Amino acid sequence: MQEYKVAVIPGDGIGPEVVREGQKVLEAAGKKYGFRLDWHSYDLGGERYLKTGEILPDSVLEELKGFHAIYLGAIGHPDVKPGILEQGILLRTRFVLDLYVNLRPIKLYPGVECPLKEKGPEDIDYIVVRENTEGLYAGSGGFLRQGTEHEVAVQESVNTYMGVERCLRYAFELAATRKRRKLTLCGKTNVLTYAFGLWERVFREMAKEYPSVEIDYTHVDATCMWMIKSPEWFDVVVTDNMFGDIITDLGAITQGGLGIAAGGNINPRGVSMFEPIGGSAPKYAGQNKANPVAAILAGQLMLTDLGQAQAAQGLEEAVSRVLPRMQTQSAGRMGMSTSEVGDAIAAEIS
Ligand code: IPM
Ligand code: MN
Repeated sequence: MQEYKVAVIPGDGIGPEVVREGQKVLEAAGKKYGFRLDWHSYDLGGERYLKTGEILPDSVLEELKGFHAIYLGAIGHPDVKPGILEQGILLRTRFVLDLYVNLRPIKLYPGVECPLKEKGPEDIDYIVVRENTEGLYAGSGGFLRQGTEHEVAVQESVNTYMGVERCLRYAFELAATRKRRKLTLCGKTNVLTYAFGLWERVFREMAKEYPSVEIDYTHVDATCMWMIKSPEWFDVVVTDNMFGDIITDLGAITQGGLGIAAGGNINPRGVSMFEPIGGSAPKYAGQNKANPVAAILAGQLMLTDLGQAQAAQGLEEAVSRVLPRMQTQSAGRMGMSTSEVGDAIAAEIS
């Protein structure tokens, strides 16, 4: 039987309870489709940091490289200064494991309430390929003349040819496998001339290698507008790190909210990390009220990455049968508890 070693980082807030449901559903999928998951838990997050001062020990980072996948809940603790854990755990893992694509499907499932009136599941089904290791997230910049009235804060967007090329390559390859085969580059070529000048140049050059893929370009501000007005235009959207961060929160709300939205931090030749894209929601922690669907759908992305396409599809179908039974997708208003949602989805699989 195929066996996968998976590192689990439940993390903070609602992380542990949504991850638990994800594991439950993945176990059910393993039974049905004939594979085994060998879980190894890591207690990274706010509690460990507050107790020991450790954020992400090098030894743990080294161990993570030995797994088939990493399954993450949420990072962020109310008693820890914002940024410390996010940068020290999430961003560091993305950088060190070179998880250069952040894959974020935006898909409205039947029975899920959508804030866009007149739009339905047939209109909202696309996927954002967010560059995940460069841009404004590269940490380049600094303060000049700090402490004076002439202080300058500089935050530079770093775009390497290699980083842009491999992200675009991933997006073209993905677009070529989709039904509609359309790839939209989201940028800001009219202002960020250097950064998106490079992106657009490589994009148009690479398009020649993919004659079956239709290409399109939109500025990021217009992208936000079209995501609301005409989401049906999009199939695969590729963009840089910062824009990808912003537009995927917007996308998430059009698919029912952060309780549903999942993402994969991917290194196609290494170990990838899967997570619900929402935060740790400390207000709902430990109450069995949070929506585990995003974590469960992160499990679907993980199964796809592990090569278990059939199981991934079975999991998604199980989710889509349970979603219409939930009253809403918001924590505390689902008409079901966290564990009941997990039980129902697991039961649909077996
Ligand atoms: C995300 C999050 C992170 C990001 C934060 C927590 C650092 O918002 O995964 O989208 O900005 O990438
Ligand atoms: Mn974000």
